[in-house]
Amino acid sequence: LDETGFLNRDVISIKDFSREELDFIFKTAMDVEENPGRYHGSHPDKRVALLFLEPSTRTFGSFNTSAENLGCKILSNRSPGVTSVAKGETLHDTIKMIEGYDTDCIVIRDRHMGSARFASEVTEVPVVNGGSGSQEHPTQAMLDLYTILKRRGGINGIRIGLTGDLRYGRTCSSLSYGLANYDDVELFFVAPGILQVRREVEIFLQQRGVPYIKSESLGEVIGDLDVLYVTRVQKERFPDPTDYERVRGSYVVDLQVLGKAREELGVMHPLPRVDELLAEVDKTSHAWYFEQAANGVPVRTALLHLVLGGMG
Ligand code: NCD
Repeated sequence: LDETGFLNRDVISIKDFSREELDFIFKTAMDVEENPGRYHGSHPDKRVALLFLEPSTRTFGSFNTSAENLGCKILSNRSPGVTSVAKGETLHDTIKMIEGYDTDCIVIRDRHMGSARFASEVTEVPVVNGGSGSQEHPTQAMLDLYTILKRRGGINGIRIGLTGDLRYGRTCSSLSYGLANYDDVELFFVAPGILQVRREVEIFLQQRGVPYIKSESLGEVIGDLDVLYVTRVQKERFPDPTDYERVRGSYVVDLQVLGKAREELGVMHPLPRVDELLAEVDKTSHAWYFEQAANGVPVRTALLHLVLGGMG
């Protein structure tokens, strides 16, 4: 396996990447951190389009920073309100336009399921999924795995709890798929019934022989965990707002909950947080989430670098 396997690759689902490929991306991200000069300005003739039709702070910010670090030209479209999408332009036409502007890679975030896959079918330009509806967020999963790798020294053998919105949260699905590549991983899905993990994720894990349990109680499982991955209830994706009101605030991670945790437990969160993870946790050694967010830059720099042709 070398760089050439990544040239012009679409990054739609984390399932499209083997363990060897993921490890190669992480090795490259490590090199980005250790030898930034090697990557700085290395792709001056490339144009990266950032088409973000949903709110974003970290994913947009880190892709933008990564593309800048590589010396790329950036075409940035941040909101449906200010693009022609507001005039009724279809995603198909928007993608065709961006392709026509001599673009070498399109990063897209959209609230619709399947949007990134659809975009990749419309254009020859490689498409990177920056979050598609409640379905998938593959580059978030890559930086999550990278964070675990750096903090724990490895991913094999991890016991990880995922809590919050497992039903509508795309970060949990992608992370679950990604973890299935590693050995002796155990997943604990902790959420009330209406927010429990989606059937398709369960089927995938069953097919891959990954053990998991579903629980409604954080207190019951927290003592067993190496990592607790907390997520925001995805208010904007609820078909019925009264459902949201019923579950809101049901799983709050605070110092009291963490009292039962192992000393080495790492708390992760893709962010933004609302009321599910209290600021009092920030100063404890459990808090991995700000470092996790910062890891978005080396991981996305590595990924863009590889998709754009590597050192070649
Ligand atoms: C997440 C997302 O957009 O899916 N944010 C992110 O990319 N870090 C999580 C969320 O919005 O809750």
